[in-house]
Amino acid sequence: MKRIAVLTSGGDAPGMNAAIRAATLIGRAAGADIIGIERGYRGLLDDALVPLGPADVGGILREGGTILGSARCKEFHQREVRDRAREILAKREIDGLVVIGGNGSLTGALHLADPAEIGGGRPLKVIGIPASIDNDLGYTGLSIGVDTAMNTIVEACDKIADTATAHDRTFIIEVMGRDCGYLAMTSAIAVGADLALFPEAGKPESKIVDQIVDTVLAIRKRERRARRVLIIKAEGVSVSPERLKQAVDAKLRERSPDAEPSSIETRVTVLGHVVRGGRPSALDRLIGSRLANVAVRALLAGTTHKMAAWMSQADIPAAVGARSPYDPHVWLVDLEAVLAETENLISGKSPLARWRAAAFDEIEDALLL
Ligand code: F6P
Repeated sequence: MKRIAVLTSGGDAPGMNAAIRAATLIGRAAGADIIGIERGYRGLLDDALVPLGPADVGGILREGGTILGSARCKEFHQREVRDRAREILAKREIDGLVVIGGNGSLTGALHLADPAEIGGGRPLKVIGIPASIDNDLGYTGLSIGVDTAMNTIVEACDKIADTATAHDRTFIIEVMGRDCGYLAMTSAIAVGADLALFPEAGKPESKIVDQIVDTVLAIRKRERRARRVLIIKAEGVSVSPERLKQAVDAKLRERSPDAEPSSIETRVTVLGHVVRGGRPSALDRLIGSRLANVAVRALLAGTTHKMAAWMSQADIPAAVGARSPYDPHVWLVDLEAVLAETENLISGKSPLARWRAAAFDEIEDALLL
């Protein structure tokens, strides 16, 4: 294994730079050339490859985003487009590829290095590193970026809570996460929110509205200083926050006709891409570095079609993954199994999805409201 390329793809996530840095330094120390691919698969198709050395990765640990840039590349679903990418990698004599990204990016990696597609061409080995603030990848407890995103949400909600408390107001705060409610659930617990709305609950709009109205009315009966209402809504809950606000306000007026209009008006804050940026937390720097360490060492040892996963418990079936020989908290999990499990996680069918929902319910019953 002489030349290893690294790319970041899909939504950027804080901590990606830690992974790029570790891959570069560890790979070079082992005698390999490390090549950065700019703008993910799109940059690969443009032959935008640059050598990476210590000077390129110095000081990037504390930077959010990704120094390599990222992109979403829909064309990569097409076999002919992947053939072009393979030609470029072969021309550049790349033997191994580290793909840092989420679901779509890792699917691209699996197909790119598929021996059936490569045929008689230059062999290619791939290892994935999970990176997505959504935490929607199977067989990893955390993906790079999740911890920073949670911290950002908590900081923003703490600020909003000041105004909510001062004015006895209700806020609906929408957070990113695509189809996954993880960020909404976990940050609701960390913030002490009064309600979390997430897609895995599968509730219809009318039920969600009733749930919010019941929560607001129950809290309004409390003593002053404890009457603020914070509701964290995952973006994956398909009703828009504005529409939710209109429906909630109308119902509140109906159910408490004597209330002051200003005490009823719900406010909406959509945190959007604020959640995705910023300085990576210590944990994201650590996870990024350790996953990249395992990914590069595994590639150097000839391993392929795996994802380096962050798991503290033996939650991974033996048929699917094994503890990495390089780090006791990192597992090398079969890439195809990760993608299948990711679908189960998003649809709520995986044991991890069920555990997340059950753990949240237990805590919610005790702490929220
Ligand atoms: O996957 C990360 C994420 O930030 C999701 O939470 C969000 O739904 C999506 O990407 C937004 O994508 P984009 O920034 O490309 O519009």
